[in-house]
Amino acid sequence: MKYREMGKTGVNASAFGLGCMRFNGAASGDTTIDEQKAISLIRQAIDGGVNYLDTAYTYLDKTSEIVVGKALLDGYRDKVTIATKMPLGAVKDRESMQAVLDEQLGKLQTDHIDFYLMHGLDKKEWESFRAIGAPQFFEDMKREGKIRFKCFSFHGPYEDFEYILNDYDWDMVQIQYNFMDTENQAGIKGLKLAGEKGIPVVIMEGLLGGRLSKAPENVQALYDAFPVKRSAVEWAFRWLCNHPEVYVVLSGCNELEQIEENLRIFDSVGAGIMDADEIKLMDDVHRAYLDRTKIGCTGCKYCMPCPNEVNIPGIFSVWNNVSLYCTDPANDWGLKRIKENNQGADRCIGCGACENACPQSLSIIEGLQRAWEELA
Ligand SMILES: NC(=O)c1ccc[n+]([C@@H]2O[C@H](COP(=O)([O-])OP(=O)(O)OC[C@H]3O[C@@H](n4cnc5c(N)ncnc54)[C@H](OP(=O)(O)O)[C@@H]3O)[C@@H](O)[C@H]2O)c1
Repeated sequence: MKYREMGKTGVNASAFGLGCMRFNGAASGDTTIDEQKAISLIRQAIDGGVNYLDTAYTYLDKTSEIVVGKALLDGYRDKVTIATKMPLGAVKDRESMQAVLDEQLGKLQTDHIDFYLMHGLDKKEWESFRAIGAPQFFEDMKREGKIRFKCFSFHGPYEDFEYILNDYDWDMVQIQYNFMDTENQAGIKGLKLAGEKGIPVVIMEGLLGGRLSKAPENVQALYDAFPVKRSAVEWAFRWLCNHPEVYVVLSGCNELEQIEENLRIFDSVGAGIMDADEIKLMDDVHRAYLDRTKIGCTGCKYCMPCPNEVNIPGIFSVWNNVSLYCTDPANDWGLKRIKENNQGADRCIGCGACENACPQSLSIIEGLQRAWEELA
C-alpha cells in the first residue's frame, strides 16, 4: 500500500480509503447491512494496509457509522483515521450540531473523529451551514479534541466549489472525480485549485459508483490493444493517483475479492507514474465512452419548462448514461423518478417548443421517442 502525508494535516494516509456507503444486505433485496460481512471486509482492508475509512451520518439508513464503530473494536480504532460527515438536514443550530456529533462519536465508539466534513456542500448549503454557526462549531470542537480536521464534501458546480474553498480555512476536501468527470462538478479545475491552495483532496466515485469497472466493448478493445494488460478498475485508479493533488481514493467494496484487487492496485500507484502512452490511452478511453453518447444534450435546460411537463434533460441524461455505461434502465433511479412524477416522453405531443429553444439544435421530438422506446 502506498502512503502519503496529507499536507498540513500531517496524516500519513493510505492511497486506498475504504468507503463505507455501499455495504450490501445478506440476501438480494435485503435493505439491512450484513453486519458480520461488513465488519470482516473493513478489518480485512485494515489488515491489508488501509488506514482511512469514510462514512457519514446518513449512510445506509444511519447504520454505516454503527458498523464502522463495531469493526473498529479490538484495537482497530488505533490503526485508522475516520472521516464522517454532518448533514445539513439533521442540524439547525449549535445544540443540534452538538447532538449529532455526540451521537456520531457514540455510534463510532470513539472519543474523536479525524476528518469531520460538512456533507455534500454547494454554495447554498455552505451558506446555510454558515448561518447556523457551523464554522465556529467546528473550530470549537477542534479545540476540544472531538474533531481533528475541518473538511467538506462536494457535488455542486465548479463556481460553488471555488467560492467555498476560498471562503474558509479547510483542512481537506472530498470531491467526485474520475476520468469521465473531469469537466463535471469540481472537475479538473477544482482539483488544481485545491492543489494550489495546499488543501489535500480525497476522491469519491473514482469508478463512478462501479460503472467504470466493466468496460463496454469499444473501450475494452482499447485496453486489450495496450501492451501492458490491466483491468478497467486498475486503469481508473491508476489514472486518479497519477494526479499529485489526489491523496486518497475512496472506493466502496462489497466483496473480499474487490478489497484484495484494490489492495494490490494501490501497491503500485503514485503521482506522475503514467507515461505519455498511458495518458494517451486514457484520453482515448474517455473519447470512446463519449462516442457512445446518444444525444448531445448538455443539460442547459433552455428547453424547459416543457408545456406538457416532459423532463427532457432528465430523459436524455438517463438515455446517455445507460448507453455509455451499459447499465440496466430498470435499475436507474433517475428514470424511476421521471416515471413516478409522470414526466415521461409518452407525454410529448410534438409541439416543438423545445426544439425552437435548444441552443444545440437537437431533434428533441425524435430523440424523446427513441429514448423512450429504448429505455422501455
Ligand atoms: N460525500 C458524498 O456526498 C459521497 C457521495 C458518494 C460517495 N461517497 C463516499 O465515497 C466512497 C467511494 O465512492 P463509491 O463507493 O461510489 O466508489 P466507487 O469506487 O466509484 O464505486 C464503488 C463500487 O465500485 C465497484 N468496485 C470497487 N472495487 C472494485 C473492484 N476491484 N472490482 C470491481 N468492482 C469494484 C463496486 O461495485 P459493485 O458493488 O457493483 O460490485 C463498488 O460498490 C463511498 O463509499 C462513500 O464513502 C461520498
